[in-house]
Amino acid sequence: MSTTTETKQRTVAARFETKDLITFDKDHVYGDWRDEFHKNGCVLIKNVITPERAQYYCDKQIQWLKNFELGFDEKNPDTWTAEHLPISFKGGMYYAYCAPHERMAWEARTEPKVVEIFEKLWGTKELITSFDGMNISLPNRKDLNWSPWPHCDQNPERKGMQAVQGLLNYAPNGPKDGGLMLMKGSANLCPPPELQYMDLFLFSEKDIKWFEERGCELVKIDMEPGDFVLWDSRTMHYACLPEGEQIRHVQYICMTPRKFADDEALKAKKYCFDKFIGTTHWPHCNIRPAEEKPMRDGEVCPKYRTEPFEKPIITDQVLQLAGVKPY
Ligand SMILES: [Fe+2]
Repeated sequence: MSTTTETKQRTVAARFETKDLITFDKDHVYGDWRDEFHKNGCVLIKNVITPERAQYYCDKQIQWLKNFELGFDEKNPDTWTAEHLPISFKGGMYYAYCAPHERMAWEARTEPKVVEIFEKLWGTKELITSFDGMNISLPNRKDLNWSPWPHCDQNPERKGMQAVQGLLNYAPNGPKDGGLMLMKGSANLCPPPELQYMDLFLFSEKDIKWFEERGCELVKIDMEPGDFVLWDSRTMHYACLPEGEQIRHVQYICMTPRKFADDEALKAKKYCFDKFIGTTHWPHCNIRPAEEKPMRDGEVCPKYRTEPFEKPIITDQVLQLAGVKPY
Protein backbone atom coordinates (compact mmCIF):
# COMPACT_ATOMS: atom_id res chain seq x y z
CA MET A 1 0.00 0.00 0.00
CA SER A 2 1.35 3.42 -0.85
CA THR A 3 2.08 5.90 1.88
CA THR A 4 -0.55 8.19 0.38
CA THR A 5 -3.26 5.55 0.63
CA GLU A 6 -2.22 4.64 4.16
CA THR A 7 -2.26 8.28 5.18
CA LYS A 8 -5.69 8.77 3.65
CA GLN A 9 -7.06 5.73 5.49
CA ARG A 10 -5.64 6.98 8.76
CA THR A 11 -7.33 10.29 8.13
CA VAL A 12 -10.73 8.68 7.72
CA ALA A 13 -10.29 6.81 10.99
CA ALA A 14 -9.17 9.95 12.80
CA ARG A 15 -12.09 12.04 11.57
CA PHE A 16 -14.50 10.70 14.14
CA GLU A 17 -12.51 11.40 17.29
CA THR A 18 -15.08 12.64 19.78
CA LYS A 19 -13.48 12.89 23.18
CA ASP A 20 -13.08 16.20 24.98
CA LEU A 21 -9.52 17.39 24.64
CA ILE A 22 -9.41 20.30 27.01
CA THR A 23 -11.83 22.32 29.05
CA PHE A 24 -11.38 25.90 30.16
CA ASP A 25 -12.89 27.47 33.24
CA LYS A 26 -15.18 30.09 31.71
CA ASP A 27 -15.32 32.04 34.98
CA HIS A 28 -11.55 32.35 35.38
CA VAL A 29 -10.22 35.87 34.79
CA TYR A 30 -6.91 35.92 32.91
CA GLY A 31 -6.65 39.70 32.62
CA ASP A 32 -5.60 39.53 28.97
CA TRP A 33 -6.97 38.64 25.50
CA ARG A 34 -7.89 35.16 26.72
CA ASP A 35 -10.91 36.56 28.58
CA GLU A 36 -12.43 37.89 25.35
CA PHE A 37 -11.45 34.76 23.46
CA HIS A 38 -13.17 32.42 25.89
CA LYS A 39 -16.26 34.65 25.97
CA ASN A 40 -16.74 35.17 22.23
CA GLY A 41 -14.73 32.37 20.64
CA CYS A 42 -12.59 34.93 18.83
CA VAL A 43 -10.24 37.81 19.57
CA LEU A 44 -8.08 40.38 17.77
CA ILE A 45 -4.56 40.70 19.21
CA LYS A 46 -2.73 43.89 18.24
CA ASN A 47 0.91 44.42 17.23
CA VAL A 48 2.12 40.84 17.25
CA ILE A 49 4.79 41.80 14.74
CA THR A 50 6.03 45.28 13.82
CA PRO A 51 4.65 47.12 10.76
CA GLU A 52 8.15 46.83 9.23
CA ARG A 53 8.14 43.09 9.69
CA ALA A 54 4.63 42.92 8.23
CA GLN A 55 5.87 44.84 5.16
CA TYR A 56 8.70 42.31 4.80
CA TYR A 57 6.09 39.55 4.53
CA CYS A 58 3.98 41.56 2.04
CA ASP A 59 7.04 41.94 -0.17
CA LYS A 60 7.85 38.24 0.16
CA GLN A 61 4.32 37.26 -0.86
CA ILE A 62 4.40 39.56 -3.91
CA GLN A 63 7.77 38.12 -4.91
CA TRP A 64 6.32 34.62 -4.53
CA LEU A 65 3.57 35.46 -7.04
CA LYS A 66 6.19 36.84 -9.43
CA ASN A 67 8.40 33.77 -9.08
CA PHE A 68 5.92 31.82 -11.20
CA GLU A 69 6.81 34.02 -14.20
CA LEU A 70 3.21 34.21 -15.42
CA GLY A 71 3.40 37.95 -16.07
CA PHE A 72 1.99 39.12 -12.74
CA ASP A 73 2.98 42.72 -11.99
CA GLU A 74 1.84 44.16 -8.67
CA LYS A 75 1.87 47.65 -10.23
CA ASN A 76 -0.32 46.72 -13.18
CA PRO A 77 -3.89 45.68 -12.21
CA ASP A 78 -4.43 44.42 -15.78
CA THR A 79 -2.23 41.47 -14.80
CA TRP A 80 -4.31 40.67 -11.69
CA THR A 81 -6.11 37.80 -13.38
CA ALA A 82 -6.02 34.03 -13.09
CA GLU A 83 -3.82 33.55 -16.16
CA HIS A 84 -1.03 35.58 -14.54
CA LEU A 85 -1.34 33.96 -11.12
CA PRO A 86 -0.79 30.55 -9.57
CA ILE A 87 -3.99 28.60 -8.89
CA SER A 88 -5.75 29.68 -5.71
CA PHE A 89 -8.90 28.84 -3.77
CA LYS A 90 -11.67 31.45 -3.43
CA GLY A 91 -9.67 34.11 -5.21
CA GLY A 92 -6.52 34.23 -3.09
CA MET A 93 -5.94 31.30 -0.75
CA TYR A 94 -2.77 29.46 -1.70
CA TYR A 95 -2.25 25.89 -0.52
CA ALA A 96 -0.59 24.26 -3.53
CA TYR A 97 2.91 24.71 -4.99
CA CYS A 98 4.42 23.92 -1.54
CA ALA A 99 3.26 27.37 -0.37
CA PRO A 100 2.71 26.14 3.23
CA HIS A 101 6.42 25.33 3.44
CA GLU A 102 7.92 28.46 1.90
CA ARG A 103 10.51 30.01 4.17
CA MET A 104 8.24 33.02 4.78
CA ALA A 105 5.47 30.73 6.10
CA TRP A 106 7.83 29.08 8.56
CA GLU A 107 9.29 32.44 9.54
CA ALA A 108 5.78 33.62 10.38
CA ARG A 109 5.01 30.48 12.40
CA THR A 110 8.16 30.98 14.44
CA GLU A 111 7.67 34.70 15.15
CA PRO A 112 8.22 34.76 18.95
CA LYS A 113 4.95 36.52 19.77
CA VAL A 114 2.94 34.21 17.51
CA VAL A 115 4.27 31.15 19.32
CA GLU A 116 3.70 32.91 22.65
CA ILE A 117 -0.02 33.38 21.85
CA PHE A 118 -0.54 29.65 21.40
CA GLU A 119 1.63 28.82 24.43
CA LYS A 120 -0.55 31.06 26.57
CA LEU A 121 -3.77 29.76 25.10
CA TRP A 122 -2.98 26.09 25.64
CA GLY A 123 -0.77 26.46 28.73
CA THR A 124 2.14 24.52 27.27
CA LYS A 125 5.29 25.19 25.29
CA GLU A 126 5.08 21.82 23.57
CA LEU A 127 3.12 22.78 20.48
CA ILE A 128 2.75 21.54 16.94
CA THR A 129 1.60 23.62 13.99
CA SER A 130 -0.59 22.97 10.97
CA PHE A 131 0.94 23.45 7.53
CA ASP A 132 -1.51 26.12 6.49
CA GLY A 133 -1.61 28.29 3.44
CA MET A 134 -1.58 32.03 2.89
CA ASN A 135 -4.01 34.51 1.45
CA ILE A 136 -3.01 37.11 -1.13
CA SER A 137 -6.22 38.70 -2.41
CA LEU A 138 -5.98 41.27 -5.19
CA PRO A 139 -8.79 43.85 -5.19
CA ASN A 140 -11.26 44.51 -7.99
CA ARG A 141 -10.58 41.38 -9.96
CA LYS A 142 -12.89 41.22 -12.94
CA ASP A 143 -12.39 37.52 -13.57
CA LEU A 144 -13.88 36.23 -10.31
CA ASN A 145 -17.42 35.23 -9.45
CA TRP A 146 -17.25 35.37 -5.71
CA SER A 147 -19.98 34.62 -3.20
CA PRO A 148 -19.83 34.35 0.60
CA TRP A 149 -19.08 30.86 1.88
CA PRO A 150 -19.80 30.87 5.60
CA HIS A 151 -18.44 27.69 7.13
CA CYS A 152 -16.78 26.27 10.20
CA ASP A 153 -13.88 23.88 10.44
CA GLN A 154 -14.91 21.56 13.23
CA ASN A 155 -17.26 18.60 13.08
CA PRO A 156 -19.92 19.02 15.82
CA GLU A 157 -19.16 15.44 16.85
CA ARG A 158 -15.86 16.76 18.17
CA LYS A 159 -16.76 18.22 21.52
CA GLY A 160 -15.35 21.34 23.14
CA MET A 161 -12.56 23.59 21.98
CA GLN A 162 -10.28 21.30 20.04
CA ALA A 163 -8.71 23.58 17.50
CA VAL A 164 -8.10 27.27 17.25
CA GLN A 165 -7.32 28.99 14.02
CA GLY A 166 -5.21 32.06 13.63
CA LEU A 167 -4.21 34.51 11.01
CA LEU A 168 -1.32 36.90 10.96
CA ASN A 169 -2.27 40.03 9.05
CA TYR A 170 0.36 41.88 7.00
CA ALA A 171 -1.44 44.74 5.20
CA PRO A 172 -3.88 47.47 6.29
CA ASN A 173 -7.28 45.82 6.41
CA GLY A 174 -10.21 48.23 6.80
CA PRO A 175 -13.92 47.89 6.01
CA LYS A 176 -13.38 47.92 2.21
CA ASP A 177 -10.32 45.69 2.18
CA GLY A 178 -12.09 42.37 2.32
CA GLY A 179 -10.83 40.05 4.99
CA LEU A 180 -12.14 37.94 7.78
CA MET A 181 -15.85 37.68 8.57
CA LEU A 182 -16.69 35.94 11.86
CA MET A 183 -20.00 35.00 13.44
CA LYS A 184 -19.19 36.24 16.90
CA GLY A 185 -20.48 33.89 19.59
CA SER A 186 -21.21 30.95 17.29
CA ALA A 187 -18.43 28.78 18.74
CA ASN A 188 -20.34 28.14 21.92
CA LEU A 189 -23.61 27.20 20.24
CA CYS A 190 -24.60 23.78 19.05
CA PRO A 191 -25.57 24.17 15.39
CA PRO A 192 -29.07 23.25 14.15
CA PRO A 193 -29.59 19.56 14.95
CA GLU A 194 -30.70 18.61 11.43
CA LEU A 195 -27.31 19.57 10.12
CA GLN A 196 -24.67 16.89 9.79
CA TYR A 197 -21.29 18.03 8.68
CA MET A 198 -17.64 17.11 8.58
CA ASP A 199 -14.78 19.36 9.58
CA LEU A 200 -15.51 21.72 6.75
CA PHE A 201 -19.14 22.67 6.67
CA LEU A 202 -20.80 25.28 4.49
CA PHE A 203 -23.77 27.05 6.04
CA SER A 204 -26.82 28.30 4.18
CA GLU A 205 -28.49 31.71 4.57
CA LYS A 206 -31.10 30.06 6.80
CA ASP A 207 -28.35 28.85 9.15
CA ILE A 208 -26.91 32.36 9.39
CA LYS A 209 -30.35 33.54 10.56
CA TRP A 210 -30.42 30.69 13.09
CA PHE A 211 -27.23 32.00 14.71
CA GLU A 212 -28.35 35.63 14.55
CA GLU A 213 -31.62 34.76 16.27
CA ARG A 214 -29.54 33.36 19.12
CA GLY A 215 -27.61 36.57 19.65
CA CYS A 216 -24.63 35.96 17.39
CA GLU A 217 -23.37 38.73 15.17
CA LEU A 218 -21.61 38.49 11.82
CA VAL A 219 -18.70 40.92 12.04
CA LYS A 220 -15.88 41.99 9.75
CA ILE A 221 -12.59 42.06 11.66
CA ASP A 222 -10.63 45.20 10.74
CA MET A 223 -6.89 44.90 11.24
CA GLU A 224 -3.63 46.77 11.00
CA PRO A 225 -0.38 45.30 9.72
CA GLY A 226 1.08 43.04 12.40
CA ASP A 227 -2.25 42.15 14.05
CA PHE A 228 -3.29 38.58 14.76
CA VAL A 229 -6.77 37.05 14.99
CA LEU A 230 -7.60 33.87 16.83
CA TRP A 231 -10.88 32.04 16.47
CA ASP A 232 -12.27 28.81 17.80
CA SER A 233 -12.70 26.43 14.84
CA ARG A 234 -16.39 26.05 15.71
CA THR A 235 -16.93 29.72 14.80
CA MET A 236 -18.71 30.34 11.51
CA HIS A 237 -16.40 32.36 9.27
CA TYR A 238 -15.31 33.18 5.73
CA ALA A 239 -12.93 35.45 3.84
CA CYS A 240 -14.25 38.41 1.82
CA LEU A 241 -12.57 39.75 -1.28
CA PRO A 242 -11.16 43.30 -1.09
CA GLU A 243 -13.12 46.06 -2.80
CA GLY A 244 -10.78 49.01 -2.31
CA GLU A 245 -7.24 49.43 -3.65
CA GLN A 246 -5.37 47.49 -1.00
CA ILE A 247 -4.02 43.96 -1.56
CA ARG A 248 -4.84 41.61 1.31
CA HIS A 249 -1.86 39.71 2.74
CA VAL A 250 -2.35 36.99 5.36
CA GLN A 251 -0.69 33.87 6.71
CA TYR A 252 -2.95 31.29 8.39
CA ILE A 253 -1.33 29.78 11.50
CA CYS A 254 -2.75 27.19 13.92
CA MET A 255 -1.06 25.41 16.81
CA THR A 256 -2.22 22.85 19.37
CA PRO A 257 -0.41 20.83 22.06
CA ARG A 258 1.72 17.98 20.73
CA LYS A 259 0.18 15.68 23.32
CA PHE A 260 -3.14 15.81 21.40
CA ALA A 261 -1.52 14.01 18.45
CA ASP A 262 -1.24 10.23 18.26
CA ASP A 263 1.59 8.37 16.51
CA GLU A 264 -0.42 8.03 13.33
CA ALA A 265 -0.98 11.78 13.13
CA LEU A 266 2.70 12.48 13.80
CA LYS A 267 3.68 10.04 11.08
CA ALA A 268 1.34 11.76 8.64
CA LYS A 269 2.80 15.14 9.62
CA LYS A 270 6.33 13.92 8.98
CA TYR A 271 5.24 12.70 5.55
CA CYS A 272 3.77 16.13 4.75
CA PHE A 273 6.77 17.99 6.17
CA ASP A 274 9.32 15.94 4.23
CA LYS A 275 7.41 16.36 0.98
CA PHE A 276 6.47 20.06 1.50
CA ILE A 277 2.76 19.20 1.48
CA GLY A 278 0.11 21.35 3.16
CA THR A 279 -2.53 20.16 5.62
CA THR A 280 -5.89 21.30 6.97
CA HIS A 281 -6.06 23.86 9.77
CA TRP A 282 -5.77 20.98 12.23
CA PRO A 283 -2.30 20.57 13.74
CA HIS A 284 -2.81 17.33 15.71
CA CYS A 285 -5.37 15.27 13.79
CA ASN A 286 -7.35 15.31 10.57
CA ILE A 287 -3.99 15.42 8.77
CA ARG A 288 -5.30 15.31 5.23
CA PRO A 289 -2.26 15.77 3.02
CA ALA A 290 -3.19 18.41 0.43
CA GLU A 291 -1.69 16.45 -2.44
CA GLU A 292 -4.16 17.48 -5.10
CA LYS A 293 -2.21 19.09 -7.91
CA PRO A 294 -3.28 22.59 -8.94
CA MET A 295 -5.41 22.32 -12.08
CA ARG A 296 -5.41 24.91 -14.88
CA ASP A 297 -7.88 24.59 -17.77
CA GLY A 298 -8.47 20.93 -16.93
CA GLU A 299 -4.76 20.04 -16.83
CA VAL A 300 -2.17 20.03 -14.09
CA CYS A 301 -0.79 23.58 -13.91
CA PRO A 302 2.54 23.66 -15.78
CA LYS A 303 3.92 25.64 -12.84
CA TYR A 304 3.17 22.76 -10.44
CA ARG A 305 6.17 22.26 -8.17
CA THR A 306 7.34 19.86 -5.48
CA GLU A 307 9.66 22.23 -3.60
CA PRO A 308 9.22 25.72 -2.23
CA PHE A 309 11.05 28.53 -4.05
CA GLU A 310 12.80 29.31 -0.77
CA LYS A 311 13.09 26.33 1.56
CA PRO A 312 12.69 26.94 5.29
CA ILE A 313 15.75 27.15 7.49
CA ILE A 314 15.58 23.96 9.53
CA THR A 315 15.99 24.58 13.25
CA ASP A 316 15.02 22.49 16.27
CA GLN A 317 12.05 24.78 16.74
CA VAL A 318 10.84 24.18 13.17
CA LEU A 319 11.23 20.41 13.57
CA GLN A 320 9.41 20.44 16.90
CA LEU A 321 6.56 22.58 15.60
CA ALA A 322 6.31 20.31 12.57
CA GLY A 323 5.89 17.41 14.99
CA VAL A 324 8.95 15.69 13.51
CA LYS A 325 11.12 16.09 16.60
CA PRO A 326 9.90 15.47 20.16
CA TYR A 327 10.29 18.12 22.85
FE1 LIG B 1 -12.12 28.10 7.46
